[in-house]
Amino acid sequence: MSKKAEKAKEIKRIGVFTSGGDAPGMNAAVRAVVRYGTYKGLHVYGIKNGYEGMIKGDIERLETKSVRNIIHRGGTILKTSRSMEFMTPEGRNQAYESLKSYDLDACIAIGGNGTFAGAKVFCEEYSDIAFVGVPGTIDNDIYGTDFTIGFDTAVNTAVEAVDRIRDTADSHSRLFFIEVMGRHSGEIALYTGIGSGASGILIPEKSSDSESLINLLKKGIKRKKLFSMVVVAEGDETGGAMAIAEKVRKEFPHFETKVAIIGHLQRGGSPSASDRVLATRLGYGAVEGLLNGQLDVMAGSINSKIVYTSFDDAINKKKHPNQDLLALAEILAL
Ligand code: F6P
Repeated sequence: MSKKAEKAKEIKRIGVFTSGGDAPGMNAAVRAVVRYGTYKGLHVYGIKNGYEGMIKGDIERLETKSVRNIIHRGGTILKTSRSMEFMTPEGRNQAYESLKSYDLDACIAIGGNGTFAGAKVFCEEYSDIAFVGVPGTIDNDIYGTDFTIGFDTAVNTAVEAVDRIRDTADSHSRLFFIEVMGRHSGEIALYTGIGSGASGILIPEKSSDSESLINLLKKGIKRKKLFSMVVVAEGDETGGAMAIAEKVRKEFPHFETKVAIIGHLQRGGSPSASDRVLATRLGYGAVEGLLNGQLDVMAGSINSKIVYTSFDDAINKKKHPNQDLLALAEILAL
């Protein structure tokens, strides 16, 4: 029997936590971990407030009934944080002591890149506690999964917001720059832009300059377009919606230029059906992985199949935007 399979056999008590930016569907993932873990005879513990709670030993037993009535709730019942202390060896040592004091053999980490980076370092330092990651972030920026938990809901929220802006932009014949989240990723902007029929989409993965945007918008005006909406990812190189609006404003004296930043609105709310299903599959996949010797990896979904990707690849490999969608966005604009 391989070392990993041996270790997997010893797993009896697991912790689950959410970390980094919250994402709709995290609760559905926690529910799946608790219910499937319990079904497989494991004792499941909830670690509160991400790595902060791990350091402080803020840990409690979760049973099937503890996760009743949460599948439809946004946010995370376990709370979350971005822990600075866990980035230090002392912080990780305290976290290790807490996990040991509850006799935990493994942890399921629901979060994004920063969460997995923390898990990877921890696993290298303390090899007797295994980790499996579940990608939970609205950004959809994790290699090793087609979609992350929360992305679908965030895009739906953003599209609904842009639809509302469309009404007022149309009524007043205005030029709107609408900023969506995505510090390093244009996924939300790309899907929101396509889903709402935006005239332009600016994302960090594609170099954009104000001149070509101005030309694009001018072409629209020539074709008697009376209002325009441009969706901008917060991490776009132009500096975000406010900055790009300032740059192009003077080119369009006959239009009033307005900016709307959707912000944290797109992180909240009840998860979409797709996010609930994805979260449930990945929560199940993480427990199943742990029990089958898939340790120190992330459980993702590619072409609707559960796949396991090393933390190293999940963190370091770049997820590229769908090239067909990018091309379509350009063809269908205006
Ligand atoms: O990582 C998810 C994310 O929502 C990013 O898109 C955004 O830049 C960031 O979190 C905002 O983080 P905070 O809630 O800490 O302001």
